[in-house]
Amino acid sequence: MTLVDEELLVKSRERVKSYGEVFTPRHMVEQMLDLVSDDLDGPGFVDKTFLEPAAGDGNFLIAILRRKLAAVEKTIEPALWPQESLFVLASIYGIELLEDNHQDAQALMLAEFIDFHQRHGVACGPRTHLHRAAAFLIATNIVRGNTLTGQDWRGEDIEFSWWNRDPDQPGVVRREPFTFFSLREESMFDLAVYAMYAPCPINQVHQEVRSDG
Ligand SMILES: C[S@@+](CC[C@H](N)C(=O)[O-])C[C@H]1O[C@@H](n2cnc3c(N)ncnc32)[C@H](O)[C@@H]1O
Repeated sequence: MTLVDEELLVKSRERVKSYGEVFTPRHMVEQMLDLVSDDLDGPGFVDKTFLEPAAGDGNFLIAILRRKLAAVEKTIEPALWPQESLFVLASIYGIELLEDNHQDAQALMLAEFIDFHQRHGVACGPRTHLHRAAAFLIATNIVRGNTLTGQDWRGEDIEFSWWNRDPDQPGVVRREPFTFFSLREESMFDLAVYAMYAPCPINQVHQEVRSDG
């Protein structure tokens, strides 16, 4: 029996019928990512953004995270791994309709991130800034919603954030919110009112310090 045969690609007939829920086998995920390997480990790979519009339980998201973390390990000095691994998380976005899949995708992303740091002896317990910032980035970037309508599970516009690097302060992030709708070609004017956040070290991003009072 091959590895693919052991994977659970369908959870139930009802879910296939209602939500088109058939998971892509691991080997195909890897083949598809090979097509964009330069964005996963080439120049500037850390900040190359990815969006999975039907994230399921996160098989693409986790494979992207794993490849980027492997590239961090290979190409960046160890002292910067915590910071750069957070910028990696900040670059990966997802939308998923179903609550259970969404929860699984978020949990598996966090587990993959923690595993990376544990393997390298970096403290990443629940009380560390590293853990909290990672959980916050995942919660903000991997949303439960409907890609077709652009709304989240509460019926509000899906809002993401760009996590821009401050060019003058290494490791500092400038959070810039945007709606998913604003990315679409037909959205000429973005009338949404966004919160403004003070620049901060990426490992403190969960503290959400506002700059608009
Ligand atoms: C075919 S599965 C694919 C999952 C994963 N992308 C993969 O390739 O293995 C489709 C997933 O998309 C989700 N989905 C279906 N319609 C959606 C929508 N309009 N917005 C967001 N997610 C949706 C389903 O709940 C399901 O988890």
